Amino acid sequence: MAFNFISAQEAAEHIKNGDTLGLSGFTAPGNPKIILEAVAEKAAKEHEQGREFKVNIFTGASTNDHVDGVLARNNAINMRAPYQNTPDLRKRINSHDAHYFDRHLSEMAQEVRYGFYGDIDYAIIEAADVSDSGEILLGCGVGNIPTYAPMAKKIFIELNEELPKSLYGMHDIYKPLDPPRRREIPIYAPNDRIGAPTLKVDPSKIVGIVRTKAFDGVKPFTQPDEVSKRIGANVVNFLVSEYRKGRIPKEFLPLQSGVGNVANAVLNYLGEDKELPNFMMYTEVVQDSVLELLRLGKCTFASTCSMTFSDQVESQLFADLDFFHDKILLRPAEISNNPEVIRRLGVIAMNTALEADIFGNVNSTHVLGTRMMNGIGGSGDFCRNSYISIFSCPSITKEGLISNIVPQASHVDHSEHSVDILITDQGIADLRGKDPVQRAREIIDNCAHPMYRELLNDYLKIGRGGQTPLVTDAAFEFHRAFSNLGDMQKADFSKFA
Ligand code: COA
Repeated sequence: MAFNFISAQEAAEHIKNGDTLGLSGFTAPGNPKIILEAVAEKAAKEHEQGREFKVNIFTGASTNDHVDGVLARNNAINMRAPYQNTPDLRKRINSHDAHYFDRHLSEMAQEVRYGFYGDIDYAIIEAADVSDSGEILLGCGVGNIPTYAPMAKKIFIELNEELPKSLYGMHDIYKPLDPPRRREIPIYAPNDRIGAPTLKVDPSKIVGIVRTKAFDGVKPFTQPDEVSKRIGANVVNFLVSEYRKGRIPKEFLPLQSGVGNVANAVLNYLGEDKELPNFMMYTEVVQDSVLELLRLGKCTFASTCSMTFSDQVESQLFADLDFFHDKILLRPAEISNNPEVIRRLGVIAMNTALEADIFGNVNSTHVLGTRMMNGIGGSGDFCRNSYISIFSCPSITKEGLISNIVPQASHVDHSEHSVDILITDQGIADLRGKDPVQRAREIIDNCAHPMYRELLNDYLKIGRGGQTPLVTDAAFEFHRAFSNLGDMQKADFSKFA
């Protein structure tokens, strides 16, 4: 079939106010880049003419400035799911200009298929290659496009000429049947391949192909600071100690690691460790540090939804693709984050928290309980179903004006029932097999910053009974002190005694 090659602006002309767009990709990689910029331009022109123009955007996870950034700046997003992390969109969400619903990443695709969120008007897909019969070779991130593309009424393709066609064979495209016909997901080891190397779409739905050479624009990591290094060292010490005790099997277990500087530092430390055996990853993103671990052989295989490498490291990958080709497999989000598979494989989950309370509840999403930071992402998929769930964060933020360990989390994404281990730069709290008061002592002694330990103990002392000594009127005293006085150290529990 002969396809129409069109410009991004011609593609954007098709898109109408209120349309729902399903995008390929997961984090920056795999996302379309120039069509959404053209949609944002169109929105700006429509707004100048006094006309309403907003679209609904469904993705795999976060995107990049080419999508969320530029659309948010032009106030062109009505509804957005399931995860984001750009400053401009964050502002729109927190001022209610954009309606954001924050979903577990493993669930989004099936919920769209169940019809919970309406129709998809256009799927927009970044591709390394496309055949006449509609076989699409995806880029470096998959996300939910295996669901969005067949559901979409029409499809646009961004053919990215920077993506090598030798990516062929690195994708594993698989869509489970929906209830009541769903069977097991037949992954019994991280490197089991269960699907197809390409995404097959109906070629008659492809309205046009837009050529591009755009890069993902992922920034390289800065050198980890002292706090991240101490957290990284504590995570590795914990894993070594569990391994020595025989609580992690001899051949080790697959690892999942979150995003950001702390996660990158943890993986760097794992690379340096001599005691732990080589390991595989079953995760949703691999960052720069993983490419080095794969090169060294410390990580022997990575199953992921996206290769979130900085542009510099991505060039290294492409230059040496033969070496990495059989060491990385890119899966759809509902498979990379699949609870059944995570539980079966015994994945060790390592995620980052904004704050944790002394009873072990974790807030990953809401600053001071109200302002959306990014979203829950895959942290819930992995935490709830993992073999061991580890959360880490610095003990203090903003030079100590904020304690990341608080009497009561101002928003709970991961409850005390799912969080096993809490790690800060101060140390490790092992919450397993402990009641709420024992957990509180463990967290205060091992994870809280020394400048906050007395205050946290003051809160524990005013407990008025019950298994969990929550004091309803005092639970948010740390947050009140920060909001009203700019410093959690100004919390005062004497008035509640
Ligand atoms: N209260 C208020 N602000 C806080 C805070 C707290 N308890 N903890 C951190 N912050 C602020 C920091 O000061 C920083 O602000 P700045 O941008 O003005 O400097 C900002 O929040 C980010 O903090 P940082 O420590 O740099 O966070 P991070 O980059 O390590 O990310 C999460 C931490 C929780 C936001 C991030 O991991 C996330 O979004 N997680 C949810 C998704 C997820 O876990 N996915 C699964 C794996 S990919």
